[in-house]
Amino acid sequence: MDHWIERAEKVIERCREIACFTDEPGHITRTFLSPATREVHAYLRRWMEELGLAVRVDAAGNLRGLRAGLNPHDPILYLGSHIDTVPHAGAFDGVLGVVMAIALVEALENRGVRFGIEVLAFSEEEGVRFGVPFLGSRALAGTAAELLSLADAQGLTVADAVREFGLDPARLPEAAMSGSVLGYLEFHIEQGPVLESLDLPLGIVESIAGQSRFEMVFEGRANHAGTTPVALRRDALAGAAEWISRVEREACTTPDLRATVGSLDVQPGASNVIPGRVCATLDVRHTSDEVRHRAITTLLDSATQVAERRGLEVTWAQRLDQPATPMHPTMIAAMERAVARAGFPVHRMASGAGHDAMIMAAKCPAAMLFVRSPGGLSHHPEETVLPEDVAAALAAGFRFLEEVEALGA
Ligand code: GLV
Ligand code: MN
Ligand code: MN
Repeated sequence: MDHWIERAEKVIERCREIACFTDEPGHITRTFLSPATREVHAYLRRWMEELGLAVRVDAAGNLRGLRAGLNPHDPILYLGSHIDTVPHAGAFDGVLGVVMAIALVEALENRGVRFGIEVLAFSEEEGVRFGVPFLGSRALAGTAAELLSLADAQGLTVADAVREFGLDPARLPEAAMSGSVLGYLEFHIEQGPVLESLDLPLGIVESIAGQSRFEMVFEGRANHAGTTPVALRRDALAGAAEWISRVEREACTTPDLRATVGSLDVQPGASNVIPGRVCATLDVRHTSDEVRHRAITTLLDSATQVAERRGLEVTWAQRLDQPATPMHPTMIAAMERAVARAGFPVHRMASGAGHDAMIMAAKCPAAMLFVRSPGGLSHHPEETVLPEDVAAALAAGFRFLEEVEALGA
């Protein structure tokens, strides 16, 4: 196990080095194809090229490193995760999966295997810049072209961002998976408290909760904060606030529902002006698509009711309706054997967070291995991992490669 601990410590050190590449000094923030992304690419490219991988960047800005199999036509196993972050993120969400993928290739040294491995550092998974997540993995799945016209807060489109990064959006179709694909494996921090509560280092993902995202707009009328009696106002923020408390109540009263308003933009945004317009995000998740859809109907109806009673207009645009996604039974079984052979308890679990594996699973057999999140903390600067857990995941990952080869690659 000692050599896995050494490799794990190096993995953690690399994640912390990558965390220094940020769009916002003092925080870890990296959005789709921002200047900091270029620095991450340079860092990972150097390492992958030292290991002899053939490195390229596809038209979605995904950094990819290919280790050929024993024969040129061997099928491919994808290993990856994302390198973008939420604002004020920690150092491990996404990046850990990419760095572990390369560390696993490094651990193979000169050993030949009967499949190729392509490391994928997805350019975008969080949905921060364009409101829609999974831009990177959707390029692999061949469903990203429809996203090219989405605009960010500055009015720049995905296509503009791709061009600004020196890439050609017309070449997006070339990023799609082709040829014979064995599957996809993603290492990821759990981002929740379950493994810690069970005192387990690893979790094998069985399924990933479905998620929906909406952009809501409450329109009222801006007016003078000193002269306008409360009863005569059309305060867009007071309406949004009432609706948000209903969102919270729905989540509290529906078992296992997650519903979050994570961002508000209040216009015109001055202490002495009644808010005239509020843009809010809504994120709703559940392992049952039926429960999720029912909750959304309730939440949108309540937005309409609140708006009508307060003389506001409310409109919304749906940005995502991603169904709950099971991981592949053969890959789950292979991971169970791998974890057991590496000497760790086998524990299956659901993922409440979304992952690139949801998108990849539509096109190839997908698996995920979770690493315990100390304190259950994620999307937070204090997000961390333990070296012994990363070592356990690397050891299990190595066995997983053997299991995949034994499946008859
Ligand atoms: C990705 O981090 C998500 O929002 O689940
Ligand atoms: Mn995340
Ligand atoms: Mn992630």
